[in-house]
Amino acid sequence: MRTVLAELHEKARAVLDPVHYDYYAGGVGDEVVLAENEAAFRRLALLPRVLRGRARRDLAVELPGGRLDLPVLVAPTAFHRLAHPEGEVATARAAAAAGTVLVSGVASTVAIGEVVAAARSVRADAAVWFQLYPQPDEAVAEHLVRRAERAGCAALVVTVDSPVFGRHRRDAEHGFHDLPAGLTTENMRSLPGGVRDIVMSPEVSWAHVARLRELTSLPLWLKGVLHPADAVLAVEHGATGVVVSNHGGRQSDLAPAAVEALPAVVDAVAGRVPVVLDGGVRSGGDVAVALALGAAAVGVGRPVLWGLAADGEAGVARVLDVLRDEFDHVLALCGGRWPADLNRDMVVARGRVVPA
Ligand code: FNR
Repeated sequence: MRTVLAELHEKARAVLDPVHYDYYAGGVGDEVVLAENEAAFRRLALLPRVLRGRARRDLAVELPGGRLDLPVLVAPTAFHRLAHPEGEVATARAAAAAGTVLVSGVASTVAIGEVVAAARSVRADAAVWFQLYPQPDEAVAEHLVRRAERAGCAALVVTVDSPVFGRHRRDAEHGFHDLPAGLTTENMRSLPGGVRDIVMSPEVSWAHVARLRELTSLPLWLKGVLHPADAVLAVEHGATGVVVSNHGGRQSDLAPAAVEALPAVVDAVAGRVPVVLDGGVRSGGDVAVALALGAAAVGVGRPVLWGLAADGEAGVARVLDVLRDEFDHVLALCGGRWPADLNRDMVVARGRVVPA
């Protein structure tokens, strides 16, 4: 059975330039992690609880940086204008209309101020978060933080899994390394000291996180944490949330599937901060499994890009609507009234006999 999300993916593949399609779809190395992110969800099952539901579910969750009407946010992805002429403006409007957060990437093709304005044009209290990479040049880091603050972003998401760029074979084969003429990464205009671009540096460290923490009072999420010890360090450095993510299989091809790394991180932070998961979420059932394993919410990356490419703002709206509807249905089937009713004791491995 083809799902709506699978249909949007097919439509996106048909309309996108194949080089750009591969940029979005591809992963690092042999794309092991890319495949595992989705496959790992299919290895998990949910034990329903019975006789304790209610007629209408409340799907909302509170996170530092915003209240979400559904526990699904839009993960940061680069270059939305490759997918659709309106780019991040369309994504922001659809996310706001769905009552959720867009994490807008530093590598957006629309400036962050315009992204926030687009979200607020739909809903005055819409929250947009800003994703950045830690920068060895502190003046550049501070410039980006102030830009996000001025734009009215409600949280910062610092992606820590990219000391170097992942090597993407599909992009290498196509020779795709940059945006076509006419598109630019708008947040990188007028960086201090004549700097033209942000950098990925293996020398960024926890000291840079500490400095970012001092720079701003905004909620600070660290994205790309997989090791439980790093989750503890994140909390100790003042992170207000942790995103368990392997960058959608685009960084280390030796990483575990995101959902497989989730429980240990949840245990390590022990309720001190919320944990968000992204990577391989393709259905409301995946959302439910992630929440049962302790995620407060999930992020979706590629499905949003497919919706955007297929049908602009309406396509992104459709993706979020499908995930909301499916998640609500699964919650009802599991006897849940709200997301917190999903617990780890409900998750079992397929192909294994449930312990007595
Ligand atoms: C990403 N991702 C990403 N993450 C980030 O922190 N900064 C970025 O600029 C990007 N750019 C980016 C581009 C593209 C094309 C993709 C597919 C992904 C990673 C993203 O935030 C998220 O971790 C994954 O996309 C989640 O996996 P799924 O939902 O795509 O399976």
